Amino acid sequence: MSHRLPHPIPYQGSKRRLATQILSVVGERRYERVFEPFAGSGAITLAASAGGYAHGYTLGDSLEPLVELWCQMLEAPVSLADEYEAIWTEQLADPPGHYLRVRDEFNTGGGAAKLLYLLARCVKNSPRFNSRGEFNQSPDHRRNGMNPAKMRREINGAAALLGGSTVVECADFGVLLQEATPNDLVYLDPPWEGTSKGTDKRYRDWLSRERLVEVLEDLHVRGVPYLLSYDGRHGDKTYGDELPPSIGARRLELAAGRSSQATLNGQKVLTFESLYVATTITEQPRFVEPLGLFAAAA
Ligand SMILES: C[S@@+](CC[C@H](N)C(=O)[O-])C[C@H]1O[C@@H](n2cnc3c(N)ncnc32)[C@H](O)[C@@H]1O
Repeated sequence: MSHRLPHPIPYQGSKRRLATQILSVVGERRYERVFEPFAGSGAITLAASAGGYAHGYTLGDSLEPLVELWCQMLEAPVSLADEYEAIWTEQLADPPGHYLRVRDEFNTGGGAAKLLYLLARCVKNSPRFNSRGEFNQSPDHRRNGMNPAKMRREINGAAALLGGSTVVECADFGVLLQEATPNDLVYLDPPWEGTSKGTDKRYRDWLSRERLVEVLEDLHVRGVPYLLSYDGRHGDKTYGDELPPSIGARRLELAAGRSSQATLNGQKVLTFESLYVATTITEQPRFVEPLGLFAAAA
């Protein structure tokens, strides 16, 4: 998996850089399907497919326009790349005004290529929605978004990796995971507890910790192998309380790099993400405690 993986959807919180480390936890084991029910940019599915981790893949998300974008990416990559190119090129005369027009058009009529352009151009590649469900994130004035030639390569790369082996579903994660069995691998990257509260919620769909725990307990009882990224810490500052033993998982810590805020302040503060690994994986006779980017959890 040393070659560069395609990553067409710029998305805040993408696991692109950590995907190889996260998947390394399952070692040599291979699965019938990999489920990624909080798909976002699908970083783990793309990496899992490149590494041959399963025969089939299921991408799910509750955000309908994002699911439409994934469907078009896999079924009609050429027209998606063409439409993106047209929208991107039109912006050059008046980038900020064009962004606002595309955003209005998207909010009235949808459109996969429009969403892709908005994600590529908006602040922190982070989709935000108002209470009416309208996309309301502002443009990032410092850049024009991924250029069309590169976007075309990324789209074609993703379609080549996932087309024909991937099912895409718009569903709540708990409903989608009813289909998973002990022969599958589930990777969950829900909105973290620390990003799901307050007025500036990062994701449109809020997820309670209780609901998450309920679904994880159910996976545990059914013997479905899963990996979960959830909360973490910057240096000594911890985000979110540890999840209970009833979910049947061990918590590892994955070194996720320097905190950008701390780097600005000239400090060297490392960020660690919690990676919960189901005991169905850690209790396999050939499970090897991962080293390197992982730290033993306290
Ligand atoms: C942290 S992001 C996932 C990022 C992803 N791992 C990546 O590499 O890009 C969380 C995603 O979960 C979706 N989501 C939020 N609540 C959900 C729910 N109840 N069921 C399914 N998807 C949900 C959001 O729309 C968002 O795309």
